[in-house]
Amino acid sequence: MTFPTRLTQAHNIADLRRLAGSALPRPILHYLEGGADDERTLARNTAVFDDWALAQSTLVDVNAVDTTADLLGFPSSMPLMLSPTGMSQLFHASGEMSVARAAANAAIPYGLSTMGTTAMETVATSGAMRYFQLYLFRDRGLTEALLERAAANGYTAIALTTDTNIAGNRERDLRTGMIMPPRFTLGSLLSFAMHPRWSVGAIRNRSFQLANIVQHVGDLGPNGTSIMDYVNSQFDRSASWKDLEWLRSRWSGKLVIKGAMMPADCLNAVNCGADAIMVSNHGGRQLDGTAAPLDYLPAIRDRVQNQAQLIVDGGVRRGTHVLKAIALGADGCSIGRPYLYGLAAGGQAGVDRALALFRAEIERGMALMGRTRSAQITCADIRHLSTFRAAPGEVATAKRPTLPEQSAGPRVR
Ligand code: FNR
Repeated sequence: MTFPTRLTQAHNIADLRRLAGSALPRPILHYLEGGADDERTLARNTAVFDDWALAQSTLVDVNAVDTTADLLGFPSSMPLMLSPTGMSQLFHASGEMSVARAAANAAIPYGLSTMGTTAMETVATSGAMRYFQLYLFRDRGLTEALLERAAANGYTAIALTTDTNIAGNRERDLRTGMIMPPRFTLGSLLSFAMHPRWSVGAIRNRSFQLANIVQHVGDLGPNGTSIMDYVNSQFDRSASWKDLEWLRSRWSGKLVIKGAMMPADCLNAVNCGADAIMVSNHGGRQLDGTAAPLDYLPAIRDRVQNQAQLIVDGGVRRGTHVLKAIALGADGCSIGRPYLYGLAAGGQAGVDRALALFRAEIERGMALMGRTRSAQITCADIRHLSTFRAAPGEVATAKRPTLPEQSAGPRVR
């Protein structure tokens, strides 16, 4: 795959992030980057990967490294998928279509958000393996209508987001005025003026709307407030496990819970019929102060055994992060911001680049670990760093520290 020079000079996701930083006006960049409150959870999501060390087996024939994985029932070319992100047209006018086409090129699953700015019927033409992200709206008629459209348009899995019963406190957006209705500060307005390419693209983009809900609610008001008010009023604070059972009874495809982190909740989800769990804290955008998905992963795997797929969602920035997650019991990982950096940096080519970087890193990492299939990567391939710091005379073992809800039972893999 050939890329424009700017993108070939992006050698990792951090480089793409820098390019996105130059391309986007400040309020949009902060909306993309931001987390809740003090952003401790946002930081932990990525930092946690540094607490673990991969094993490096040597003199293994790694001529043929096979990165394929089954994710949510999709035959994915690698153990990575794309998380749903709302309003992708904010980051590039081509929005969701660019992301979905890049997912199709890479042969990995793409999740379209209920809050997407492209209709699910249009995204269906991208050729991507696709799942639809759903909120449990108070208006069950809207939820049911979305389910019907998803089924009719080849979305074979539904991911129910369960960590958004109310909006998180994103202080960056309060500061820039990126709220509904927008109240941009002078600094924000200047930043729009200093990014004419983005601003002209946004002005020309007449199709910006919450395209999957708009038919149900009617047209947007002049600045989008009416539909946003409607959507905000629709988040159902009273949603409970009964509603998950209700959803299971209405949806015959794969059912995914996005936003469970506690092992007991994950087991409940399985008992309600969930096929997979995206272990997630919404990329640190909702409850600040929670641990990272990876922190809970071993305990979740112990609790649910092999009854559900586990996808680590949040903080993943490197191929080796994906390999660490697999070693700790995940079936794969999912990313949000990394592909949005690519989108902002260069539209579809930018997303293609982000996915090519991940693929190369995963392949290289597996080869250097001496592993040719992800099924070969087990808990024997990872060690908590604290176990290297054993006191003199103590033997540092590969045993992981016990997490609060971790049982002593065997791990499935
Ligand atoms: C999100 N996320 C999200 N999740 C969801 O279920 N529905 C949505 O509409 C959105 N929208 C959204 C917008 C933006 C700008 C971001 C950054 C994130 C959360 C997303 O699906 C995923 O959980 C996180 O992005 C994962 O963390 P990383 O990969 O961004 O660290």
